[in-house]
Amino acid sequence: MIPGDFQVKKPTKSQMWKLGAVGVLGLGMLAGVTLVLIFVISAWLGRPVVFGFNEGPDQPIAFPHVRHVTDLGMDCTFCHRNVTEGAAATIPSAGLCLTCHMTVGDGLAEIVKLREYGESGRPIDWVRVHRVPDHVRFVHEAHIRFFTQAQGVEAQAVCSTCHGDVTATDKVRQVRSLKMGDCVDCHRDNGAPTDCSTCHF
Ligand code: HEC
Ligand code: HEC
Ligand code: HEC
Ligand code: HEC
Ligand code: HEC
Repeated sequence: MIPGDFQVKKPTKSQMWKLGAVGVLGLGMLAGVTLVLIFVISAWLGRPVVFGFNEGPDQPIAFPHVRHVTDLGMDCTFCHRNVTEGAAATIPSAGLCLTCHMTVGDGLAEIVKLREYGESGRPIDWVRVHRVPDHVRFVHEAHIRFFTQAQGVEAQAVCSTCHGDVTATDKVRQVRSLKMGDCVDCHRDNGAPTDCSTCHF
């Protein structure tokens, strides 16, 4: 070896251990910060999907969309009657359910509950899954009309654009952010109005 040549000093064993410890600690902190960031960003997007913990709320009656839509072939608009006509889609009263369930589902616990609601005339207090704040105006009818015409499809085929596949899980959950940025992006893409007064009272 030529004297004066630069030589990297070999680290001692204890130095190696320290370096290793710093590395592990650094990685741990990075992972922690990433986790926090994911939570903040997903909360901000209004989508608590992180790690798949995004279950819909428990409902007073465990209503299975999949039974009615997939197995029985019912149209979304059969129950959500107002969706092509007005602002709210609406959820039917027990009366509509009982046109079938007076006779269908004897002995099933959820149907017993349903009949009790029907007999007492009490409304079923379904837990709302999607809700825009009070200062925001949302109108189902305009969206269904536009997309059924633009894509030449049935109203039923439009719902999944915003609600995903409601038959995929036992409990309906929100799968799209539907925050202002999301609404405005879609409006811009489809040439719909984006001035504030379109969506704000
Ligand atoms: C047999 C009646 C029936 C049919 C058919 C039906 N639904 Fe529902 N839907 C309900 C009931 C009852 C609820 C309330 C309980 C719940 O959230 O599971 C509901 C809830 C929902 C919600 C959540 C509402 C909220 O609180 O935000 C969405 C979204 C929805 N339905 C979409 C659909 C779509 C899309 C279809 C067609 C693919 C469909 N539904 C077909 C009865 C029905
Ligand atoms: C067109 C007829 C029809 C209508 C309308 C209807 N259902 Fe059903 N529903 C059925 C049939 C058929 C089944 C399957 C019953 C079975 O598995 O024995 C079913 C199953 C169910 C079940 C599952 C029962 C279980 O424990 O397996 C629930 C809960 C239910 N319906 C609630 C409702 C509610 C709430 C409404 C009104 C929003 C409604 N249904 C409207 C026909 C209907
Ligand atoms: C452009 C997005 C979009 C489309 C398409 C859409 N929804 Fe909705 N839906 C929403 C938003 C946003 C809310 C919350 C509205 C509110 O808080 O007033 C909602 C709420 C609901 C609700 C609960 C409150 C209510 O209005 O009764 C039901 C049920 C529902 N949608 C069903 C449907 C069905 C069925 C279809 C298809 C025929 C559909 N939606 C299509 C965005 C959409
Ligand atoms: C999937 C795309 C899409 C999304 C998401 C969407 N919109 Fe729209 N919206 C449209 C289109 C397209 C129209 C134009 C319909 C027309 O030209 O008649 C429209 C029309 C409207 C209108 C006008 C209704 C009227 O008076 O004629 C309102 C209000 C509205 N949207 C509010 C909202 C809000 C609030 C959200 C978010 C919660 C939202 N939209 C999300 C596509 C979307
Ligand atoms: C296409 C529909 C749409 C349009 C157009 C729109 N907004 Fe919004 N805006 C929403 C929705 C939905 C919310 C509620 C969800 C959220 O907080 O993002 C909201 C929330 C807000 C809020 C409250 C934010 C908060 O943190 O609570 C303000 C302020 C606001 N909008 C201002 C405006 C202004 C100013 C314009 C015009 C430049 C505008 N918006 C245009 C849909 C819209």
